[in-house]
Amino acid sequence: MCRRRGVSVFLLIVAIVVSPALSLSSHSPTCKAWIVQSIPTDMPHLPPVPGVLSTEEVLRWLAGNSTSKLQIIAQYWQLLAQPNDPRSGDYGFSLSDLRRFGASSGLSVYKAIEAAADRNVNVKIVQHSGVYPDYEQESAHLASGRPNVENVTLLLGDWWGSGIVHAKVWISDNKDVYIGSANNDWKSLTQVKEVGIYLVDCPNVASKVDTYVNNLLKLASLNSSLYTRTVWDSEWQSRRKVPCWSHFVALKERCRSPLPTYIETPNVMGYPVISDPFMFKIRIDTPGHNKSTSKESLSYLSFSPPELSFGKFQTDEQAWIDTIKSVNFGGTVRMNTMDWLSQSQYVDQTIYWSSLSSAISEVVFSKQATVKILVAYWGHFIENTDQYLKSLLYSNILCSSSKYNKCGGKVEIKYYKVPGFNSTGPAIREGNRTGNIYPGYTRVNHGKYAVSDVRAHIGTNNLVWDYFYTTAGVSFGTYNEAIVSQLQEIFDADWDSPYAVSVEPLQGA
Ligand SMILES: *[C@@H]1O[C@H](CO)[C@@H](O)[C@H](O)[C@H]1NC(C)=O
Ligand SMILES: *[C@@H]1O[C@H](CO)[C@@H](O)[C@H](O)[C@H]1NC(C)=O
Ligand SMILES: *[C@@H]1O[C@H](CO)[C@@H](O)[C@H](O)[C@H]1NC(C)=O
Ligand SMILES: *[C@@H]1O[C@H](CO)[C@@H](O)[C@H](O)[C@H]1NC(C)=O
Ligand SMILES: *[C@@H]1O[C@H](CO)[C@@H](O)[C@H](O)[C@H]1NC(C)=O
Ligand SMILES: *[C@@H]1O[C@H](CO)[C@@H](O)[C@H](O)[C@H]1NC(C)=O
Repeated sequence: MCRRRGVSVFLLIVAIVVSPALSLSSHSPTCKAWIVQSIPTDMPHLPPVPGVLSTEEVLRWLAGNSTSKLQIIAQYWQLLAQPNDPRSGDYGFSLSDLRRFGASSGLSVYKAIEAAADRNVNVKIVQHSGVYPDYEQESAHLASGRPNVENVTLLLGDWWGSGIVHAKVWISDNKDVYIGSANNDWKSLTQVKEVGIYLVDCPNVASKVDTYVNNLLKLASLNSSLYTRTVWDSEWQSRRKVPCWSHFVALKERCRSPLPTYIETPNVMGYPVISDPFMFKIRIDTPGHNKSTSKESLSYLSFSPPELSFGKFQTDEQAWIDTIKSVNFGGTVRMNTMDWLSQSQYVDQTIYWSSLSSAISEVVFSKQATVKILVAYWGHFIENTDQYLKSLLYSNILCSSSKYNKCGGKVEIKYYKVPGFNSTGPAIREGNRTGNIYPGYTRVNHGKYAVSDVRAHIGTNNLVWDYFYTTAGVSFGTYNEAIVSQLQEIFDADWDSPYAVSVEPLQGA
């Protein structure tokens, strides 16, 4: 009797102790995702895709909802327009021009961060040194007089010889995340076309992005001259500077990584493909799309440069390639980028880089896939892009060059021209009216994503070698059917719009 009472008292205690935890886990909210876009003003012929959120509202909400911690990875800050600074691309535009351009969106995002900082939220910023004319000034203003705001500048050039922090990532309260192409710039909200993903109540994903942020912060705390080597990189046939723990350094000379979390794979040079990269197996609700399923699906993160990745996370280059190769037989891959080059752009020794173009040709040949690529044509277009795109289009000729190939696949490429792209810059230069209709560095399709018939990949890297090997970038990808299908809709709206014009094959080819 006595004993039995003991047992029931014990059970009662167990019930009391366990039940809050049980109810917590049974009510723990499901991860939700929305695709996020910025659509420049004055694009009347672009049909809107329903259920997509705007970058401005998502960034405001991330700051607005944060109660304890807000982390931001930024290349630069220009949330506040500067029509009165003669060095700015905003110079000379009137207040009514700026209103028409939507510049107040930047101010409201800035105010939301400031309000979070004033609520004593711990704000942690990792950034590149910013851009002309005011560099780190906005984040310094946020940090000024607020011990809860940390503003860290990390120069990847000290570690890789060139390269920058180029990821655009926000994490709020270790559970809500934005990853995408939008800079912390007012123009990224209303004058540049952007694509990103907003994840809400996804602590598993947030904690892995947080690990990457910590790796960046650790790097910023170290003296790079003690941890870098200049080596012959046999994979890219280039002599270049890398962190001493890089797999481009011969094993015998490689140092132990000082990063809190890191990959160890002995006996390899470079960063070979991981055969079973880490995947989150989680249910993601998609309130912005009616195809929402309650099924679990696989999702992933990928990172660049490879030396900053950790665990079994794949490099960003591999994640792009695997997305291209995920296409079904006879299916379609859609790819969107600002810049495209099958080479490097910023390193001294030019590197030839066919990783993505090879993957594209491979699926065109053997899987008879159609690969559609949208590349931005804008005020700062890279001059030899056209030759590389034409060389990729030549795959169509090669594929059908023998009747034994039974070639059914093809590559199609279009330039995306946001109207006004060739009239950007300050309104006044050295006292004279320029005739520019829009501010500098605007009117461009800046999104970086790929979507096959089964897998969606949303990132921050341009499709140029440097971004994958010397630049800090982050992508989120998923096999979630609703996200795949909505990203296809976004691409098709652009592809079928009058703003997309075909890249012509070489004359005579
Ligand atoms: C918090 O986020 C939700 C959507 O995720 C949004 O509806 C709400 O307005 C946000 N709250 C604040 C204060 O920003
Ligand atoms: C961070 O902000 C403080 C306070 O405004 C400023 O003095 C400092 O220069 C800033 N640091 C960087 C790296 O911008
Ligand atoms: C970094 O290390 C180098 C080499 O030991 C040294 O000369 C330099 O002063 C160090 N820099 C800092 C900021 O500590
Ligand atoms: C679901 O969404 C698609 C595309 O957004 C739309 O064409 C369709 O009518 C929607 N269906 C329902 C039942 O709302
Ligand atoms: C800008 O581009 C449009 C469309 O490509 C063209 O019609 C126009 O002449 C260009 N204007 C200038 C100033 O180059
Ligand atoms: C500005 O305009 C004046 C008068 O037309 C001209 O003399 C001057 O060269 C112009 N300056 C520039 C930088 O174009």
